[in-house]
Amino acid sequence: MTLPTNQIILAPLQGYTDAVFRDVYFRHFTGVDQAMAPFISTLSQKKINLSTLKDVIPENNINCPNLIPQILGNIAEDFISLANQLIELGYYTINLNMGCPHSKVAKKKRGSGMLPYPEMVDQLLDNVFKGLSSDSIDCKISIKIRLGRYNKDEIFELLPIFEKYPLDEIILHPRTGVQMYEGDADIDSFIKVADKTSHRLVYNGDITSVRVFDNIVRQLEKVKRYGQPSHSYKPINRFMIGRGILSNPFLPSEIKKRLGHCGGSFNIDIDNFKSSKSQSELLERIKLFHDELFDTYSRKFYGPLHVTGRMKGFWTYIGDSFKDNRKEIKKILKSKNREHYKAVADIFFAQKPIFNPYD
Ligand SMILES: Cc1cc2nc3c(=O)[nH]c(=O)nc-3n(C[C@H](O)[C@H](O)[C@H](O)COP(=O)(O)O)c2cc1C
Repeated sequence: MTLPTNQIILAPLQGYTDAVFRDVYFRHFTGVDQAMAPFISTLSQKKINLSTLKDVIPENNINCPNLIPQILGNIAEDFISLANQLIELGYYTINLNMGCPHSKVAKKKRGSGMLPYPEMVDQLLDNVFKGLSSDSIDCKISIKIRLGRYNKDEIFELLPIFEKYPLDEIILHPRTGVQMYEGDADIDSFIKVADKTSHRLVYNGDITSVRVFDNIVRQLEKVKRYGQPSHSYKPINRFMIGRGILSNPFLPSEIKKRLGHCGGSFNIDIDNFKSSKSQSELLERIKLFHDELFDTYSRKFYGPLHVTGRMKGFWTYIGDSFKDNRKEIKKILKSKNREHYKAVADIFFAQKPIFNPYD
């Protein structure tokens, strides 16, 4: 299997992968090539204030590679106004969120709520691209999308519309909006979409291990690319990962290692988790990451309740990778204040829990 230069993008997860998380994560772990920031909502006719933009301000993202800001909105003028502010901050690619599944958002025809309305999407993109070009703004637009709001065929009404615009890329999470995160990511539908778009397509969904990644890559080899002469063939070689990185922050580097060793065995990675030498190294790295995250949240931006809230979020996903320590993790999640939190987290690490995201 020949794998071209594959890239991993950290997915936006509102409430989790904020600037502090990203900054600390990238100081401790390798393998991710790019990150997308959680969405910023447009505000009608108003300039967004600096505190709303603080998550994407460059000085808060020094260690974060190639950050792409994301906008949630459905009115072209508001999108352009916010895009202008982001361009002033130095960004030249901006993502439009067309996938947010939450009903509060979707009810307003934002996020995945736009997907049943192809004419509205066409109008929005038309106005956005016209607006950017009339202001001579040199900025690329990508979209992040699901298969549909209510059913997985809605996207096929949208693909001919997307062909009309010079999108930088389409990031597809192959579920519907109403599905939220239920069921499996639908790779067959992803492949059908890939056959019907000439845009660069990014795969996103349920990559939780090297084994899963490899399985997805194998399935994507079935993809034929619509309307592409062979010289402009665009292979699928960009993968966005969200929850898998929160559960196992080593995952991107394991995938990259795997890509460097085509034909090697995955058991190497699984065995690695089981050897006691690498267990202590892995745990030490996670502890350093955790402690720095806690210190940075305590220093920056957030009040005491925010600090414990964010740190409890950290355990939401990684907690499942410490399968023998559910009781201790419950204690962490029940901690009442910052000091109490730190004390129970320290006790947790001192017990040398086994980190194993794969069993
Ligand atoms: C808690 C949470 C917050 C999310 N926030 C955003 C967001 O701000 N913007 C966005 O486009 N997607 C958001 N997503 C969707 C993820 O970016 C990603 O598409 C989804 O989790 C599937 O990828 P995964 O299986 O690798 O996690 C969020 C998902 C979760 C679980």
